Amino acid sequence: MNFLGSHILSINQFDTQDVEALFSVADQMKPYAHRELKTRVLEGAILGSLFFEPSTRTRISFGCAFNLLGGQVRETTGIKTSALAKGESLYDTARVISGYSDIIAMRHPMDGSVDEFSKASRVPVINAGDGSAEHPSQALLDLYTIKKELNINNDFDGLNIALVGDLKYGRTVHSLCKLLKLYKNISFTLVSPNELKMPKEIVDDLLAAGHRVNETEDMETALHDKHLVYLTRIQEERFSSQEEANIYRGRFRLNQSIYTAHCQPNTVIMHPLPRDSRAEANELDSDLNQHPSLAIFRQTDNGVLIRMALFALTLGVEKDIERTSSKVGWYTDRRF
Ligand code: NCD
Repeated sequence: MNFLGSHILSINQFDTQDVEALFSVADQMKPYAHRELKTRVLEGAILGSLFFEPSTRTRISFGCAFNLLGGQVRETTGIKTSALAKGESLYDTARVISGYSDIIAMRHPMDGSVDEFSKASRVPVINAGDGSAEHPSQALLDLYTIKKELNINNDFDGLNIALVGDLKYGRTVHSLCKLLKLYKNISFTLVSPNELKMPKEIVDDLLAAGHRVNETEDMETALHDKHLVYLTRIQEERFSSQEEANIYRGRFRLNQSIYTAHCQPNTVIMHPLPRDSRAEANELDSDLNQHPSLAIFRQTDNGVLIRMALFALTLGVEKDIERTSSKVGWYTDRRF
């Protein structure tokens, strides 16, 4: 893919070389994300941040990533506070906001909405989650995290992973499967309630690409030989009622004792977050918070690096970052 000026809408746009290129730029972003260096490479540029669905880390990390490259962020959150609530079309919103911005990050509850929006946009659009369809930047930061946690040098062949929870509506696992599909001989154990299985077309694509797929409702057995376990929240906002979602909440839970009994000693634990910490759900228990294999907060930190890299590549400034960088004197001195 040619990143420059491209919309980032789906993992289907990527090949393994694109992933490698992105990860290499992400690596270079560390001193900026860690506030050791600053760059003004995107000075004067504006990110239009449109989050028509709840978000904490995705919205803030896109914003931080843009700020860390020297750009500014203008944003709207929620449908009710935007002109979409007055009946404005995605086409009109796209024409308007792309007149104000150099790049747009957008989340919307409808599958395919970001794609539709991008067709009317005059600037690149990054899909920050469209309904239950895709969440490409999350999958990229997840794979980057897998690379770091397992000390892999861009060769993800032979991974043995379990994806657990709401695999039907979870867009993060849809994008992650599409991304892992690019590699070879991966063993996927898909643990979900029977009613919330991974969409058939995604499973069929994995099988057609030569991967192994095992679908099950038995989480404990599934954990045994895994390099990593990726848990997800029941996507209650996609169900027709709270009561229907409640049927599945709490069905699969990972805690310290289950981990010790069933996982390898260093099976990596991932979750896109937010984890539902209410007692009736609690899919990933806080008694694992100090566990060295719990990667969830390294995942969120990595999100900033990946999003900086996406901005740098789509806006074509990745080679200018070092030239425009300087030390962050006052701040590093005062860190505690
Ligand atoms: C996920 C999402 O929005 O799809 N969150 C995120 O972006 N990290 C997962 C979720 O909401 O369960």
